[in-house]
Amino acid sequence: MSKISIDQLSQIQQKVEKEQALRQGQTGTGAHRMHLLICGGTGCQAAGSIAVYEALKAEIDKQGLSGEVAVIETGCNGFCALGPVMVTYPEGIFYVNLEEKDIPEVVESHCKNGEPVERLFYKDPSSKKFIPHMKEIPFFALQELIALKNRSLLDAESIDEYIGRGGYQAMAKALKEMSPEDIVAEVKKSGLRGRGGAGFPTGLKWEFCQKSPGEIKYVLCNADEGDPGAFMDRSILEADPHAVVEGMVIAAKAIGSHHGYVYCRAEYPLAVNRLQLAIDHAKEYGLLGENIMGTGFDFELNIYQGAGAFVCGEETALMRSIEGKRGMPRPRPPFPAVAGLWNRPTILNNVETWANIPQIIEKGGDWYAGIGTEDSKGTKVFALTGHVNNIGLVEVPMGTPLRTIVYDIGGGIPKKHRKFKAVQLGGPSGGCIPEDKIDTPCEYAAIMEAGAIMGSGGMIVMDDSTCMVDMARFFMDFVQEESCGKCTPCREGTRRMLQILEKICAGEGEPGDIETLEELSATIQEASLCGLGQTGPNPVLSTLRYFRDEYEAHVHDKTCPARSCVALLKFQVDEDKCKKCGMCFKNCPVDAIDWKKKEVAKINLDKCIKCKTCIENCKFDAIF
Ligand SMILES: Cc1cc2nc3c(=O)[nH]c(=O)nc-3n(C[C@H](O)[C@H](O)[C@H](O)COP(=O)(O)O)c2cc1C
Ligand code: SF4
Ligand code: SF4
Ligand code: SF4
Ligand code: FES
Repeated sequence: MSKISIDQLSQIQQKVEKEQALRQGQTGTGAHRMHLLICGGTGCQAAGSIAVYEALKAEIDKQGLSGEVAVIETGCNGFCALGPVMVTYPEGIFYVNLEEKDIPEVVESHCKNGEPVERLFYKDPSSKKFIPHMKEIPFFALQELIALKNRSLLDAESIDEYIGRGGYQAMAKALKEMSPEDIVAEVKKSGLRGRGGAGFPTGLKWEFCQKSPGEIKYVLCNADEGDPGAFMDRSILEADPHAVVEGMVIAAKAIGSHHGYVYCRAEYPLAVNRLQLAIDHAKEYGLLGENIMGTGFDFELNIYQGAGAFVCGEETALMRSIEGKRGMPRPRPPFPAVAGLWNRPTILNNVETWANIPQIIEKGGDWYAGIGTEDSKGTKVFALTGHVNNIGLVEVPMGTPLRTIVYDIGGGIPKKHRKFKAVQLGGPSGGCIPEDKIDTPCEYAAIMEAGAIMGSGGMIVMDDSTCMVDMARFFMDFVQEESCGKCTPCREGTRRMLQILEKICAGEGEPGDIETLEELSATIQEASLCGLGQTGPNPVLSTLRYFRDEYEAHVHDKTCPARSCVALLKFQVDEDKCKKCGMCFKNCPVDAIDWKKKEVAKINLDKCIKCKTCIENCKFDAIF
């Protein structure tokens, strides 16, 4: 590779575009007649996609199709629950749950004879019908992609593939045609708010830093992503690392910075590898480093691997960590825009925020501001998990009601006899939104009013088998474990709150415990130095707001209404409720249940290991 000019960038784009046109359904413009895009994201790799990918390449070779059919490994396609997944072009057919043994048939039947293999298509859970085309599957059809624009459409390890999708054109525009003020103005016009959790206006942050005096400034990317259940940032880095690199160079020009870091947790090896490849390739093409594309602008980018402490996602702690010190937050002001990394003016943005930037520069701030709502512009990526059929990565316009995400995109609750209870948003800093608020639009203010926060995008759906006290206990366990210990209210207070919650779940709650939790929450929120402590009590407070009766049932009646807390269960069958179906008997792993046709089940407590399998399988809530 040699350094390329802006003209050469466009030449590469035109050449690769012809090959990629097949993925838009246009035939006859590239070297191959068929493209097989197999997901190589972390989720699909865990489900065996590497072996499937190797088998596919070998079989294409074996059947003499390598000149006609290209096999491309992509990042996360979004529908992780069905991995390994693959999309074939030009038809756009979506294969799910692929195994090595399926490959000879797929190649023979589909690639050779043009007959797709129906049994490997996505099957709609309600109609039980196969849906062959990706764009017709509701999970995909209702999404709108900006940050995930290139997901499952390109080889994340090839810079040419990114350039073919229009990559680095926005950077070329920013470096050649725009002043730093123009760039900031465009980002401000877009209304983009940071996607890392707090939702601070991105353009405003850049403007503060642009105006900060200083010869040396830094641009940072926050890829720490420590929230339990979240995988948005990891997926973007795995699927489209150049989008983040490009966004960062644009910001560097805006503030006059020549050095940046991506702070990524070492637990994300695939993301780190693909990002490193992207940086290396960009350097080889002269899209990073000195005199980028002959514009006279210099920018170096490096990766800094974090050891996986949640608090290192906090901006001041992250900067200390890059400096080689222990990652602990410090008071603000001074804000990083004035004194950040090594006390120099610094901007830090989240991975998803960065992935939006090239398109804002390319298509204009007005275009971006035209999507979403007055309060929240653009789209938001969510990692949809929990008690929902379609687990995966979802990008929707801001303002989309939670109901659409949970039911139409997510496919609703898997167990028919269970009801939707709540959705948890924003991880340990967030809260839960109950059933009667499921029509809340996903925008910053409305979510906040409903008692949660948008956060970075973790979305956990819970059915009525979830105990909200236990859920709050889980998050408090996480927060106290991750507290850096610098301030006493956070260090000691979260531990005390956890002890009380554990006590309540163990059936040892006492009158006054709920009030103590509320008092501790107020103190910790007020007296903590950083966001971890300030928001740590939120899961407790939001569950108390909507599910106080569950806390009271635990403390006063020694019962767990969701039948979840083992210590509060009697493992007995309610004879009036038992419909004598035998499901508990069939599923008990240790034969602790006596049951005969037309008879009420009986649990033998001497044998019972309290695994709760019978409770989960009883459709009539007859076991308590
Ligand atoms: C305890 C704690 C952990 C955080 N973890 C992350 C994280 O993993 N990723 C992230 O982007 N922001 C995280 N943040 C928010 C960052 O401090 C910062 O606000 C954000 O990265 C700014 O980027 P944005 O403006 O693009 O959102 C965390 C904040 C706190 C208080
Ligand atoms: S609030 Fe908690 S995590 Fe934040 S600085 Fe204080 S002790 Fe550390
Ligand atoms: S599963 Fe429930 S209803 Fe069926 S036999 Fe067992 S206790 Fe009775
Ligand atoms: S809790 Fe587990 S072991 Fe006990 S009766 Fe139910 S299924 Fe069997
Ligand atoms: S990792 Fe393959 S679909 Fe998400």
